[in-house]
Amino acid sequence: MAKNYTKIINSLPSSVPFVGPETQERLLDKQFDSRIGANESVFGPSPKALKVIKDEASSLWMYGDPENFDLKIEIAKKHNIKSENIVVGEGIDGLLGYLVRMLVEPNDNVVTTDGSYPTFNYHVNGYAGLLKKIPFKEDFEDLASLSSFSKKLRPKIVYVSNPNNPMGTFNNKNEIQAFINEVPDDTIICLDEAYADFVPDDELIDINVNQENLVRMRTFSKAYGLAGARIGYGIGHENLIKNFDKIRNHFGMNRISQFAAIESLKDHNHLKDVISRVKNSLKKIEVIAIKNNCKFVKSSTNFLAIDCGYDGLFAKKVLDNLISNGIFVRMPFTSPENRCIRVSAGTDEDINLFEERFPKALKQAKDFFNY
Ligand SMILES: Cc1ncc(COP(=O)(O)O)c(C=O)c1O
Repeated sequence: MAKNYTKIINSLPSSVPFVGPETQERLLDKQFDSRIGANESVFGPSPKALKVIKDEASSLWMYGDPENFDLKIEIAKKHNIKSENIVVGEGIDGLLGYLVRMLVEPNDNVVTTDGSYPTFNYHVNGYAGLLKKIPFKEDFEDLASLSSFSKKLRPKIVYVSNPNNPMGTFNNKNEIQAFINEVPDDTIICLDEAYADFVPDDELIDINVNQENLVRMRTFSKAYGLAGARIGYGIGHENLIKNFDKIRNHFGMNRISQFAAIESLKDHNHLKDVISRVKNSLKKIEVIAIKNNCKFVKSSTNFLAIDCGYDGLFAKKVLDNLISNGIFVRMPFTSPENRCIRVSAGTDEDINLFEERFPKALKQAKDFFNY
């Protein structure tokens, strides 16, 4: 048995980076009343994107353009770069897989933050890379340690998510630039900017496609509200981007997703509106946290980490209570970050439900632990 599988496959555990809310609903045998756990956008896609999705439905008999030509032109306009500096893929998740495949051979070192976005680690494990993890420093990614570790280990990739998931913290552009300057040239810096749309442009480092060891990842899953359409892109030096074309799944992009992304990029008003609705929603969640004597971590994303006041076991109990009461939320995996639960921005209805059920979840957890 299992004779024909690769050594890597045989060595891997049967795990997934995240258990989906649908899986949990099947286990609970009921649907969530509020889905505020996966940092999706409850505010949905642009009406322009929705229109093209409907209008183009009958063209689905055709494959999508394997070059993502028109979409790359729109992305290039947004960032004032050339199409040669852009790779489009099946979400950042898909692109992370390609990046690791391009660079990591068994036992190669890769550096990341312990407890940061786990899908990256999942891909590294899938190619038998060796993950070296730096702990968070007071809920922030510790850029100084990430760069000094990179100098020492000369890893194939150093991964940073900024703003960060799961804590929502943001390392400012001076810190990021200093980090980039410190990392050795032979290490590729993967700067995952899934939540960059929630940060004012002038607070992000300038786009610099001349740096050969930097790739920045963006997505349509968050502010653009197209998580289910699976569209992400990487920005980088032409030489780095060219290598994606050697291995990416050329027909991996859904034709309708390509059109939807193009229309989304043209709808600046919708993007602005979503960003302001997310900010309002997070403010309401902050107020709920305070009302329940909980602290929160200031967020630069579309979610808020609420500090439940005790350890990971306590926060897990709160989370479980919320889940069994119809509210889908998630929490960080590592200590001490796992003292928090992570709540995504929601509609007023979502937030009202959370406001009603969070105190009960806290109380049940306190009763359970006798606090
Ligand atoms: C830091 C980070 N990177 C990537 C992703 C996934 O992005 P995509 O939907 O484009 O695969 C997420 C989603 O939660 C994320 O938090």
